[in-house]
Amino acid sequence: MARPVLEPHLFVIIGATGDLTERKLLPALARGTGGDQGPRPVVLGVARTTMDDAAFRDHARAALARAGVEDEAVAAWCDARIHYASLGDGDATGYAAVAERIRAVEAEHDLPGNRVFYLALPPGAFPGTIEALGEAGLAHGPGWTRLVIEKPFGRDLASARSLNALVHRHFDESQVYRIDHYLGKETVQNLLVFRFANPVFEDVWNRDRVSSVRITVAESLGVEDRASYYDRAGALRDMIQNHATQLMTLVAMEAPAAFDAAAIRAEKVKVLRSVTPLDTDDVVLGQYAAGEADGEPVPGYRDEPGVAPSSSTETYAALRLQVASWRWQGVPFYLRTGKRLKRRLTRIEVRFRRPPVEIFEPFQDACRLSPNVLVLTLQPDEGFDLGFQVKTPGEGVELASQRLRFRYAEAFAPLPDAYETLLRDVVQGDQTLFVHADEVEAAWRLYDPLLAGRPAPRPYPAGSWGPAEAHRLVGGDGDPWDEDSGRSG
Ligand code: BG6
Repeated sequence: MARPVLEPHLFVIIGATGDLTERKLLPALARGTGGDQGPRPVVLGVARTTMDDAAFRDHARAALARAGVEDEAVAAWCDARIHYASLGDGDATGYAAVAERIRAVEAEHDLPGNRVFYLALPPGAFPGTIEALGEAGLAHGPGWTRLVIEKPFGRDLASARSLNALVHRHFDESQVYRIDHYLGKETVQNLLVFRFANPVFEDVWNRDRVSSVRITVAESLGVEDRASYYDRAGALRDMIQNHATQLMTLVAMEAPAAFDAAAIRAEKVKVLRSVTPLDTDDVVLGQYAAGEADGEPVPGYRDEPGVAPSSSTETYAALRLQVASWRWQGVPFYLRTGKRLKRRLTRIEVRFRRPPVEIFEPFQDACRLSPNVLVLTLQPDEGFDLGFQVKTPGEGVELASQRLRFRYAEAFAPLPDAYETLLRDVVQGDQTLFVHADEVEAAWRLYDPLLAGRPAPRPYPAGSWGPAEAHRLVGGDGDPWDEDSGRSG
């Protein structure tokens, strides 16, 4: 099916000299549009630094080269369709000048006045920028206007609410695109297709058949150079409240009435509202100590540059959630995330109940009978595995686990980057993969009490699978929760 041609628009990046613009936005704009979707967009980079178009184009070309996006067409795009405007001090005069420049660039390229404003900024700058855009009359233009806001959206329920109120003072919710880049990952989107286009799985997707769900978002990297943000955020805010919780809602939600933004987002909010308040017994937090990464010694979190030596910020979190719904009552959802874990791995394991009567019990000593486990690997090595039992050939009854296996890389071309998908959706006006105001507040409501009284993080060695205490959470659920979790099925 031919993809719709994207409407001509101006893509305004506020925070155009930052890391996100260089690493993600410019490469996604260069790769993700064009071809059968029309020419690459006209971009206006906006930041405080004083520079002209030529200097910003050099900056953009260097960033694209570092990202491996270089060819003649991309060079021509940089030369003809990328512009820059300085914000000066970021005061009202600065925004008035930017508004003026927007109109001039639109006139130069004969654009109809459709505008995307992408806030590629540190969260502290969101409120002032949103206010300034509104005050400068930029929240509504001659065509459509869309506002894209990066995570984190607030740092607790109160701040998310006041940010939503500020956004809504100037923009309508239908103009707002709150990014959770996990939703742009192909494998995450496919969760909905997998569930709702394959009734064979949907029929067993409930408390009668599922014993637990384990969601892992593990990273082998440490805090890198982001201590100034991360030390104030921690794993609960940085990964659990958004990415891991989004995965949980996609696994737990009911079938939407239609495959559209309103229906899907409404079902996700229902899941969040059904989660039982968390008890501290349901949570294990950790902080990495010195250890190894890729065979090399690495420092502990407190010795990382920019981290306070007495920091109690968690770099690991494991939680047990209960979704009090007819479908899921009594089925624990385990979520865990961490930095400096053994390897990078994002995976959902749906663990099915064992047979009601274990007629193979007499043979279990020889071969431990594993439950059926459906493993959805979101990254790396994207794919699905369904574990089942077979009889090994030969005398007697010996059971072994085997897998049905699907890998994206074997079936399809390389997967697009999440930002390519998300930016295209913004331009097409499709909010399905973006987080609604109600959803972001419902997620904060869930974690607010925990954030207010967090248990002290337990140390774990870098390169391990986190604090041993986390395994207690999955106690009674069979296999330990380490790298091999889900492999046995
Ligand atoms: C970001 C977090 O949202 O997601 C980072 O702020 C984290 O701390 C990153 O490293 C992980 O994203 P991905 O796509 O590499 O899994």
